[in-house]
Amino acid sequence: MDEDKRREPPLSAGGRIRDAVPARPPLYAIGGAGATAIAANVGIVYLVGAGPGNPELLTIRAANVIARADVIVYDRLVAREIVALGRPGAQRIYVGKARSNHTLPQHEINALLVRLAQDGKHVVRLKGGDPFVFGRGGEEIEALVAHDIPFEVVPGITAATGIAAYAGIPLTHRDCAHAVTFVTGHLKDGTMNLDWPALARPGQTVVIYMGLLGLPILCRELVAHGLPPTTPAAIVQQGTTAQQRVVVATLADLPGRAFDARLAPPTLIIVGEVVKLRDKLGWFHPEPGRAAVRPASLAAD
Ligand SMILES: C[S@@+](CC[C@H](N)C(=O)[O-])C[C@H]1O[C@@H](n2cnc3c(N)ncnc32)[C@H](O)[C@@H]1O
Repeated sequence: MDEDKRREPPLSAGGRIRDAVPARPPLYAIGGAGATAIAANVGIVYLVGAGPGNPELLTIRAANVIARADVIVYDRLVAREIVALGRPGAQRIYVGKARSNHTLPQHEINALLVRLAQDGKHVVRLKGGDPFVFGRGGEEIEALVAHDIPFEVVPGITAATGIAAYAGIPLTHRDCAHAVTFVTGHLKDGTMNLDWPALARPGQTVVIYMGLLGLPILCRELVAHGLPPTTPAAIVQQGTTAQQRVVVATLADLPGRAFDARLAPPTLIIVGEVVKLRDKLGWFHPEPGRAAVRPASLAAD
């Protein structure tokens, strides 16, 4: 291991992360037959969750592995402060995607990770939120396993939990929600292929990722399958950050309210009685002047 990798460099000016426990050797193990076949000079890939937007929500483990990375491969929703935690000499490769606009196709990202690790690099693959929640982290790990590349998964705070916390909306509550369901509202061929009867069951909270474009369909189908039109619903743009904006409404009027508010991605939708608690429990109120006003576009989530 070279000098750079042994040292724990300072990670933040504020010193919070600097005081972290030094990084351990990786805890990963290549499963199955690959365990004995790892080439001596092969590197490692850390699949790291960068959290929901606010860079201070990064885990200490994530900060430690980022600080030692030779290469950081990162996505669109990763805060730039987190990418900046890498060494000055670390290579940074942006592979981010916006809807329908993939900078690098997934199979090329997989191949890139494999190649970098085969070159002996300490690679950090940084993904927004948690890598195993709507993040294709599983696919990337499968590619690594297929090539006997050592890896470790560093979980991150997923958008649902991070954003609900910053919006003052507990996802479960003994009085009104005993279950929570995460779904993707991503449209395929203009439709949303979801289990509507299950989502419309009362007593639960439904969290929808990537649902802005399909918001009218989502609200309409939930009502058509039995949820009252008066069911509380919220949509949060750029949650956990200084630009956070929250629109609270009902299933009947959320699409119109979101459009009027000119919300733009990234947004997260929360449906259920727990949304009402925001009135009492909302605690994060970023300065209004810092909220970015964006064009009226519901077309990009
Ligand atoms: C491709 S998914 C990745 C999810 C990520 N792996 C996670 O665990 O949060 C991206 C979606 O997460 C949601 N999202 C992520 N960050 C967000 C934020 N700061 N505010 C609102 N929604 C966010 C949006 O629905 C966005 O379209």
